[in-house]
Amino acid sequence: MSKAQQGTAIVTGASAGLGKIYADRLARRGYDLVLVARRGDKLAALADTLRATYGVQARPFVADLSQAADVERLAALIREDDGITMLVNNAGVSVMGTTATADPAKLVWQQAINVDAVTRLSLAALPTFIERDRGTLVNVSSVLGFGFLPPSAFYSAGKGHVANLTRALQNEVQGTNVRVQLVAPSATATDIWDAAGIPLSTMDPQIVMNAEDCVDAALAGLDLGEQVTFPSVEDGQLWKNFEEAAAKLFQGAMRGKPASRYRVG
Ligand SMILES: NC(=O)c1ccc[n+]([C@@H]2O[C@H](COP(=O)([O-])OP(=O)(O)OC[C@H]3O[C@@H](n4cnc5c(N)ncnc54)[C@H](OP(=O)(O)O)[C@@H]3O)[C@@H](O)[C@H]2O)c1
Repeated sequence: MSKAQQGTAIVTGASAGLGKIYADRLARRGYDLVLVARRGDKLAALADTLRATYGVQARPFVADLSQAADVERLAALIREDDGITMLVNNAGVSVMGTTATADPAKLVWQQAINVDAVTRLSLAALPTFIERDRGTLVNVSSVLGFGFLPPSAFYSAGKGHVANLTRALQNEVQGTNVRVQLVAPSATATDIWDAAGIPLSTMDPQIVMNAEDCVDAALAGLDLGEQVTFPSVEDGQLWKNFEEAAAKLFQGAMRGKPASRYRVG
């Protein structure tokens, strides 16, 4: 597709980590960029670099996605600017801790960014894209959306929401030219770990991917037409097995009566 046809991609969390790489790779593909995050200085510097390197338009959109008013401003842009052809819901934070140790206020903050903002922005983007019969929604979840570790209960819960939401929304775009991709990275070397109180230096380097590889694999998955991309999972059959098991469980639940082991009635 020519540069003129790509349109504009919004990348949330573009000031660092995966979002910054998404912005670079999408600019390289010819997208104009709207770069969203709180740190305007980093967004402005990135916009300058993208303009100079790729000759695209790039503009900072400073927003705190824990704030409903800022999320609504971005949602309005998605609805009103028909040049928007892609939304990458990437911004996220990681609050680790058990029910005994986690700060409730921080969990609510995490929920606002990782769940509420993603939900609200998906809700703005998808009907708009469907109406235009054009557009790509990428929601970044995590492998922890499909499982959990002792301190990840609340992060996993939020990422599970994003995973289920995105999978369900994929039904709405069948037969259209709109794409919806769920991306589920595993451990990737970004600032999110130090911010979560788990220094990257304490982790086995063998299980940590670099951010460039993660985004390049996610975009390759999108190009392949994948609805769900696990950048680090080698055996694609694992996901098929997971989906088949989930479908069987769902079917197995459609019985209308208690299972015999409960000896009810
Ligand atoms: N790194 C991993 O191991 C890993 C694994 C699985 C999934 N993920 C997911 O990948 C996504 C990107 O994470 P990352 O690893 O790239 O993290 P990161 O390096 O910490 O970057 C997070 C980005 O989100 C933005 N952000 C955070 N809070 C925000 C807020 N309130 N409003 C607007 N923007 C906000 C940050 O910008 P400002 O600080 O400038 O606002 C930054 O640009 C997240 O959804 C994360 O959950 C990461």
